[in-house]
Amino acid sequence: MSFSFGFTKDDFSDDELDESSHIQPTVPSTTQTQPNKGDYLESLTILDENLPKKHSLDSILDTLKDVRLTFDNYTTTGQNIIYRRELFDVKHQIMMEADNQNSKLSELLIDENNNDLQKNVYEGGFKSWECAYDTVDKLSQLIDQGKLTSSSILEFGCGTALPSCFILMKKIQSKNTDPLRLTLSDFNFDVLRLVTLPNILIHWASTLPVEQLHSLTTTENDQRFSNDELSLTPALIEQFKKDLRQYNIELSFISGSWGKQFNEIISGDNVDLIISSETIYSPESLPIVAESIKQILTNSNADSSLAIVAAKNIYFGVGGSLVEFLNYFNQIKSAEFTVTVEEVNDAQLKRSLVYINYSS
Ligand SMILES: C[S@@+](CC[C@H](N)C(=O)[O-])C[C@H]1O[C@@H](n2cnc3c(N)ncnc32)[C@H](O)[C@@H]1O
Repeated sequence: MSFSFGFTKDDFSDDELDESSHIQPTVPSTTQTQPNKGDYLESLTILDENLPKKHSLDSILDTLKDVRLTFDNYTTTGQNIIYRRELFDVKHQIMMEADNQNSKLSELLIDENNNDLQKNVYEGGFKSWECAYDTVDKLSQLIDQGKLTSSSILEFGCGTALPSCFILMKKIQSKNTDPLRLTLSDFNFDVLRLVTLPNILIHWASTLPVEQLHSLTTTENDQRFSNDELSLTPALIEQFKKDLRQYNIELSFISGSWGKQFNEIISGDNVDLIISSETIYSPESLPIVAESIKQILTNSNADSSLAIVAAKNIYFGVGGSLVEFLNYFNQIKSAEFTVTVEEVNDAQLKRSLVYINYSS
């Protein structure tokens, strides 16, 4: 394989779940001096092009008009079915976009001869990483036990956003109308528009009766209907927005780098659940994730809140590790935080779920 983004030729196949999918070292999107523990965010200087930006649902939907999504489905260890837009389909969309206003990332994505991972360009969001499935299984248990009652959820470094997609799908399936704000964040805007929102749409569409889905996705000129494709017709998008309103779901999106600017953007949202899967993979990202969780939950007005950090115990070759993350968080945490760890024992490469509870 010559391409450096870590995709196999099968893109989203199960192959990516083996050890060959270790994240390659990347250069952070920031410059920094040597900070003291707890001062990492303060010391970051984020490059202008990577400053975080909020995006409305409509602005991202506008980039997906009449796109036909191709997806596959995957059954997790816990027997939960989730859907993933195929990567070849993402590449196809990029190539079809006539205005050619694609970012550098998009150019790299379709250039199979590019050998180098591009610093400050890509942080792994196009793939679904192994711990995202562990997170889905845990969320499934919490939902079944009636323990997932959060009203403002942030998926921090969401990529394909399978945990958020699963939460949205379950909420609609159970006809739950409690207000829910779902904020999806990724380093790359292109990840948000090309896989995050498409995956959300696919999971939502899976909740529709087949007849309704058929009538919403076919037009007089195009009567094709297939189990692994979804046409984003104007009628389908309207129904999507209608259902979001009906189920009291507000979706928002943030692209760009983590840091204090990111935490300022999110501060009004009163986040009471942070989900972060496979984000503590490097010595640079680990303190940022730890400090951001502390800051976001402390600044939220929620009385009690939780962060779920899903990670491999060791990231070979890149330097991140669960132990280092836990040590770091335990050193910076205040008395309101308690931390517990659950190991996932179904593979040679150990993985864990960290629960960081905050109670004011
Ligand atoms: C390895 S991917 C994991 C994606 C997804 N959570 C999963 O488990 O499949 C790491 C994620 O963290 C995000 N990320 C990494 N460093 C970041 C940074 N400095 N600022 C913002 N996002 C970052 C990437 O955009 C990407 O979505």
